[in-house]
Amino acid sequence: MFKTIEWQNNNVIMIDQRLLPNEEVYRTYKDFLDVAEAIREMVVRGAPAIGVAAAMGVALGALKINAKDRKGFVKEFEKICKIMAGTRPTAVNLFWAIERMKRVVKKNHKLSVDELKQTLIQEAQNIHEQDIEINKEMGRHGSKLIKNKATILTHCNAGALATAGYGTALGVIRAAVEQGKKIKVFADETRPFLQGSRLTAWELMKNGIDTTLITDNMAGYMMKKGLIDVVIVGADRIAANGDTANKIGTYSVAVLAKEHKIPFYVAAPISTIDLNIKHGDKIPIEERNIREVTHIKDIPIAPKNIKVKNPAFDVTPNRLITAIITERGIARKSFEKSLKRMVKADKIF
Ligand code: MRU
Repeated sequence: MFKTIEWQNNNVIMIDQRLLPNEEVYRTYKDFLDVAEAIREMVVRGAPAIGVAAAMGVALGALKINAKDRKGFVKEFEKICKIMAGTRPTAVNLFWAIERMKRVVKKNHKLSVDELKQTLIQEAQNIHEQDIEINKEMGRHGSKLIKNKATILTHCNAGALATAGYGTALGVIRAAVEQGKKIKVFADETRPFLQGSRLTAWELMKNGIDTTLITDNMAGYMMKKGLIDVVIVGADRIAANGDTANKIGTYSVAVLAKEHKIPFYVAAPISTIDLNIKHGDKIPIEERNIREVTHIKDIPIAPKNIKVKNPAFDVTPNRLITAIITERGIARKSFEKSLKRMVKADKIF
């Protein structure tokens, strides 16, 4: 199997997701600025995975701080956190992970600079390990919603590649398969970055899970034909009322699911829930380089100088979501209440 991200001998190792499925290349990062660039450029992507990458990047940066006392260290540390926080705006896991790293520094007044560095490295590794556990727990809860012989549609990649391992939406699928259920998956290709065809199809096939690739505009046809029983997607940020930001195109799938009376589930860790944002309109949506739309692997597929929009995410309103699967259980409507209860009950960290 592959590893999405790892801390090894004070370096960060990441599989370069831009090159999949054609090449399996692992890159070694020694400098936090390069980790920040890797997040921006989508070497690593997916909300929980960029949280882990940010935490490891912060640890890498902290390790190289040349300060003798705490005051000097904290000044440099704050700068590193700020750079890391400026990489991508939508997935709240990035900010959540940086906050956890900051808390280590705030909380440990008595530690020397060297001890602080080691504690930060440990925290980044904890975030990594806990993410895998969280996904497995989510899988245990979510798989109860999946019947034997179900056909599941998923959008983008919410798998092992989007997390420290196992996956959120794909974690639920993996858990159902591990329980012996016969599951078929339809993967939306997910234009423009093709996370569905390049990443989801690749990692599910590696697991031997029955997967069929479709282009995004085929989902409605498949639903009308009665070929889809359930939709499961991941999330980049869930507002307090359950409105969910996820990869562009998720909203269209949710509307289609409603029309065809197909359950639409979101699987995401508690760290993706942002109670500070009341509803989805307030979630910042990243606009990415238009080249992602006009080119595929440097080959132009649109006329030069055409006007282009490239929002990377959309928001699915809570009314289109059947339930939200977290490591704490399954949240149902009203999401205001169920999500709040789940976040407050999260005493693990
Ligand atoms: O732009 P990306 O590839 O980082 O977007 C990823 C998604 O939208 C995923 O569906 C989401 O992060 C959930 S990952 C478990």
